[in-house]
Amino acid sequence: MTGSLTGKTLVLGVTGGIAAYKSVELLRLLRTAGARVRVVMTRSATRFVGPTTFEALSGEPVWIEMFEARSDAAMRHIDWAQRCDAVVVAPATANILGKLANGIADDPLSTLLLAATCPVMLCPAMNTHMFRHPAVVRNLARLEADGHRILAPDSGDLACGTVGPGRLPDPGVIFDRIRALLAPKDYRGRRMLVTAGPTREMLDPVRFLSNPSSGRMGFAVARAAEHRGAAVTLVSGPSTLTDPVNVATVRVTTAREMAEAVWQHAADVDIVVKTAAVSDYRPGSPATQKIKKEAGDMALILTRNPDILMELGRRKQTGQVLVGFAAETENLDGYAAGKLKQKNLDLIVANRIGAVGAGFEVDTNVVSLFYRDGRREDLESMSKNDLAHLLLDRIANLPSGV
Ligand code: CTP
Repeated sequence: MTGSLTGKTLVLGVTGGIAAYKSVELLRLLRTAGARVRVVMTRSATRFVGPTTFEALSGEPVWIEMFEARSDAAMRHIDWAQRCDAVVVAPATANILGKLANGIADDPLSTLLLAATCPVMLCPAMNTHMFRHPAVVRNLARLEADGHRILAPDSGDLACGTVGPGRLPDPGVIFDRIRALLAPKDYRGRRMLVTAGPTREMLDPVRFLSNPSSGRMGFAVARAAEHRGAAVTLVSGPSTLTDPVNVATVRVTTAREMAEAVWQHAADVDIVVKTAAVSDYRPGSPATQKIKKEAGDMALILTRNPDILMELGRRKQTGQVLVGFAAETENLDGYAAGKLKQKNLDLIVANRIGAVGAGFEVDTNVVSLFYRDGRREDLESMSKNDLAHLLLDRIANLPSGV
């Protein structure tokens, strides 16, 4: 399946820096996503993290010494380098960068890097002064010119006590960039707008109306589209998820703010995917002070919010693709097909709320797709990331798609 790491083989190079502990988590993420990972450590890396940890998590022998007694060791630098989809070095010390930039091969990792013809991603991590040293700057420029991907380090407090660039990004970010590296670029040149999360409508300064949407589905679509080369804008209601890398993310609170942000971008995009769970109503007259309880019941007057997708359907330009989501607890087919027609959509993703492994706040989803031409596709339970890629596959095949 597009976007999945199942069937992919990676080499993870670990060199000697404090951040080597983060590559343990990176390995776990890659393995969980289905990748086969072979780990090559420099001798100094083994001073920071034991090879047994990598061996146990990868399920493969870890390569440290060039001339091991194992029968398959002799040609390993060629074999491992050729039988992989990408090589990732995390953390990459000034030493390994210097060696690769100058074609030096004196240990398993530096030798394998010269033999690799697949994409190579280097994740430098070191003291700020080292990172800024002209020799390191020169080596990084050379490596970039040679076609290697460099993941810029984060800035902040470093283990050595300095403050500045040099910190290895979080494993989740490196994992995300590996996914981007391996994804097809079939959305290059396409502009996409994605909405995500709930909206929040204040009742008084301390209370609001909302729903349990976490934003996971929309963030997964935005991330997958970015990985596949699209220029993505994400408009999100309140969500605890962090902004996806390389995605222009606009945070809003209310449905009316979401509508405003959507109008700012909708005319300039080829595809709109509207996963947001927008509040259809808002309190008619929100109180400026906290509402005090009184004896007896209380009635709320609610006012209709704009239906953003309906308006997008009205304004839809020729060639623009509009994808909606429908959350239903009953009559999925009738309601979803109705919304597809009413809102002038090309595709609607119908979510059966209450089904096992579907809906709000879970990592998986069970949906049916309804197409403009009357076709219907029932999908099995899958992760929101896999579903995001499958949707992009389907959108690319729509008559007005990519
Ligand atoms: N939507 C929207 N603006 C709204 C309500 C919904 O843009 N005010 C969009 C959602 O982002 C989603 C689609 O419309 O893509 C369907 O949302 P859903 O809540 O399932 O349905 P509604 O159209 O609100 O209809 P109902 O509440 O009657 O089920």
